[in-house]
Amino acid sequence: MSKTLESKVAVVTGGSNGIGRAVVQKLSKLGASVVYNYHSDREGGLALAEEIAGAGGSATAVEADISQKSDVVALFDRAMADYGRLDIVVNNAGIAIYKTIEEFSEEEIDRIFAVNIKGVFYCCQQAARHMADNGSIINIGSTVTRVMLPRYSAYAASKAAVEQVSRVLAKELGGRGIRVNTLSPGPVDTDLFREGKSEEQVDDLAATAALGRIGTVDDIADMVALLVGDGARWVSGQTILVNGGFAA
Ligand SMILES: NC(=O)c1ccc[n+]([C@@H]2O[C@H](COP(=O)([O-])OP(=O)(O)OC[C@H]3O[C@@H](n4cnc5c(N)ncnc54)[C@H](OP(=O)(O)O)[C@@H]3O)[C@@H](O)[C@H]2O)c1
Repeated sequence: MSKTLESKVAVVTGGSNGIGRAVVQKLSKLGASVVYNYHSDREGGLALAEEIAGAGGSATAVEADISQKSDVVALFDRAMADYGRLDIVVNNAGIAIYKTIEEFSEEEIDRIFAVNIKGVFYCCQQAARHMADNGSIINIGSTVTRVMLPRYSAYAASKAAVEQVSRVLAKELGGRGIRVNTLSPGPVDTDLFREGKSEEQVDDLAATAALGRIGTVDDIADMVALLVGDGARWVSGQTILVNGGFAA
């Protein structure tokens, strides 16, 4: 694989599992140095950095809760301390709570917004502070802003806010050549997606996609790689749906 991201430095949130883990692996294979956080899965988070070092790459794992501004500041400070520059930020960490509107508690509503939108906000602040000219910020949204699924109200609302922040920041940061986009996956086979779903429900969702399956984490990581690359230099302020035709 050619090292198209050699000498670039990336921060990826939620790198310990799921989509974020695949993004860390992909950016690293392309030659980027990657700083990423883990939250509850310290073992998995640290193991990934070792795996990357073993393959000749360079990665730093940092414990962080992105809903805490001080943790986010420390994550980005660590990237600057270790590598001295910042070119790519992938705001991937997120949580889902699937409940009917009557079932949601005050704490659950606060938590989903604290991680999915306040966390993205804090990360974008640090990206704006540290990022080199002509960098790229990708905020991970979701196709659920286009396909209305019962029990997804809080999650979908938080992801709609992510799209809007991206569009505004594209204008705010465009003068520095920094591109800001939302990448919105459809159903992808991770713990977050599987939680509370039967095999039958998963099969039903797969059948809804034009391509007849749910996504893999590599389907998303490959699109992240395209979007941060030079081939996407004229793409900013967009929401890119990556879902196999789930919401076609
Ligand atoms: N899977 C899908 O079908 C799908 C579809 C559309 C959009 N998305 C979005 O894609 C992103 C990744 O989802 P996923 O499916 O890969 O989820 P996942 O497998 O549950 O992984 C979530 C990642 O985020 C980290 N994380 C969770 N809470 C955090 C917090 N408060 N602070 C920092 N990191 C935290 C987790 O760390 P630990 O494991 O260490 O706790 C983990 O690395 C999310 O934004 C999600 O909304 C997913």
